[in-house]
Amino acid sequence: MVMKPMTRVFSGIQPSGVPTLGNYLGAIRNWVPMQDAHESIFCIVDLHAITVWQDPKELSRQTREMAAALIACGLDSKRCTLFVQSHVPAHAELGWIFNCVARIGWLNRMTQFKDKAGKDREAASAGLYVYPNLMAADILAYHATKVPVGDDQKQHLELANDIAQKFNHDYGVEFFPNIEPLIQGVAARVMSLRDGTKKMSKSDPSDQSRINLTDDADAIALKIRRAKTDAEPIPEHMAGLEGRPEARNLVGIMAAITDTLPENVLREHSGQGFGAFKGTLTEALVAHLSPIAAEMRRLLTDPGALDAALHLGAERANAVAEPIMKQAREIIGLLPAR
Ligand code: AMP
Ligand code: TRP
Repeated sequence: MVMKPMTRVFSGIQPSGVPTLGNYLGAIRNWVPMQDAHESIFCIVDLHAITVWQDPKELSRQTREMAAALIACGLDSKRCTLFVQSHVPAHAELGWIFNCVARIGWLNRMTQFKDKAGKDREAASAGLYVYPNLMAADILAYHATKVPVGDDQKQHLELANDIAQKFNHDYGVEFFPNIEPLIQGVAARVMSLRDGTKKMSKSDPSDQSRINLTDDADAIALKIRRAKTDAEPIPEHMAGLEGRPEARNLVGIMAAITDTLPENVLREHSGQGFGAFKGTLTEALVAHLSPIAAEMRRLLTDPGALDAALHLGAERANAVAEPIMKQAREIIGLLPAR
């Protein structure tokens, strides 16, 4: 019998707020079918979240809330490994090793650092700067090769491959595999409802800029009604969305949430003004998201059960990562602890 080469999927999400429609359409929704196709590992990356200030009480609450959201969206701890990053020491350890492999010049090119650090780069944490090294460690500690993410993470995955190659080259080994980003769907990048040139983000100061997975029907209706658009009607063809980032975004969201292509959305709604279109979009969003919000609320009534599921996930993750770390330490020449 020919053995299929093993593919292991890894992805991560920060517990820095309630997951947004962007997280859902760009990432989480694509994770669900992977559980049955591959060995899948999904991680709530709390060590990444603290690269910017997090209120301690909020952080632990949001970590549980993220676990509930992921399970409510369809991740099942029987079919995948779901855990919290700080519960598995391999991440921080390999992250440090990669700090010593990655070059400062590589990190200087990362656009997410530039965006997140803002104008006063000197005042950003050193953790925010080396964030991509930790992200590479998350994936490579498991020798995972497929990473489903939104479009914004592509550059970090290219860096992870540079790190893996430099490690292999410097130590003369074929140890870390090549990583393949899986960037899927029409909604690989969902934009802010207030500014169609910025991505929808859970850390945007304006709650009006995003749909949260916990928003109720009224909140969704209000945010969509207030979403920025223009005075032109829905065009017939995609070319008619050129230079209209807000219009394009709403059409993209409609396509993603109803599982169709933006072209089909245009065909069905062309000529309509955005007022009417927003009503239909709200209905589609509420129908899709309200069962998820209800399941999240139910799961959060039993934090003990959520914690137990996460602890089990961490044990399973550790069992995969630790033998890989043992080999990595040997390759580097770190003296065995015992
Ligand atoms: P983060 O919220 O930064 O922890 O991102 C978690 C996952 O969601 C990553 O795979 C991101 O690429 C994805 N993601 C975040 N924001 C968006 C967005 N606005 N559109 C599409 N995907 C997104
Ligand atoms: N950096 C990712 C983001 O902000 C989250 C993340 C951390 C991640 N580690 C990862 C994603 C490993 C994929 C694989 O969206």
